Amino acid sequence: GRMSLEVHDRIDSTNSQIARRWQQGETGLLVTIADCQEQGRGRRGRPWQSPVGQNLYMSVGVTIARGFTQLEGLSLVGGIAMIESLALPEGVKAGLKWPNDLLLDNRKLAGILIELQGELEGAVRVILGVGLNVHMTEAASVDQPWTSLALAAPGRPWRRNQLAADILDQLVARLDAFEQSGFAPFCDLWNEYDLFRGQTLRATSGDLYGQGLGVDDAGNYLLQTERGLQKINAGEISLRVA
Ligand code: BTN
Repeated sequence: GRMSLEVHDRIDSTNSQIARRWQQGETGLLVTIADCQEQGRGRRGRPWQSPVGQNLYMSVGVTIARGFTQLEGLSLVGGIAMIESLALPEGVKAGLKWPNDLLLDNRKLAGILIELQGELEGAVRVILGVGLNVHMTEAASVDQPWTSLALAAPGRPWRRNQLAADILDQLVARLDAFEQSGFAPFCDLWNEYDLFRGQTLRATSGDLYGQGLGVDDAGNYLLQTERGLQKINAGEISLRVA
């Protein structure tokens, strides 16, 4: 279908803007990018610092035919698209932390916020919001260790326009496969980027300890615990190295 892209100097949240565009009747693949956000949102109700001109704040609105329920897997595909779009210098390695954090040197480089916008004539609408730290070298209040492309790979002239284009290319190229077959075709690739495979992990909600085994075909994270194999569902749980 057709893609329509909006660029704003300043907005509350690019995710919210996609929802408004749907309300106004827009169709096709919607993309909104902003130079800064006044109410940028992260996962689990956290704010997402979105200072002017520093980072990439981009949301993609996707309409997916119904028939399968693995929508959470889409955020994992988003993580793959992001990591594969970055041309990092030799020796600088990023990886994925389930479900969809991009980490570099144990610090957060990017995250994805998935929001569902309900059904329309048999299709499901999903907002995929990408926050990628590009030029940021200091931040007033971020409650977790973070980094940016400028800090981790200062030799490169990182350009937000180019990064946005590359991420979109990667994502769009994978949407068809996801729509047809769900997450299964992406499982092995995701596991290659898994930073926590083989480590002893704790699922923060519930008191599960176990060894990280990577994701299964549906995008659940697998933990080998004393009580056997446990599946962690996307959404509510994060993994911490124990
Ligand atoms: C996370 O907590 O890891 C997800 C962060 C997602 C931030 C992006 S920035 C663009 C889009 N608009 C938002 O309000 N949030 C997402």
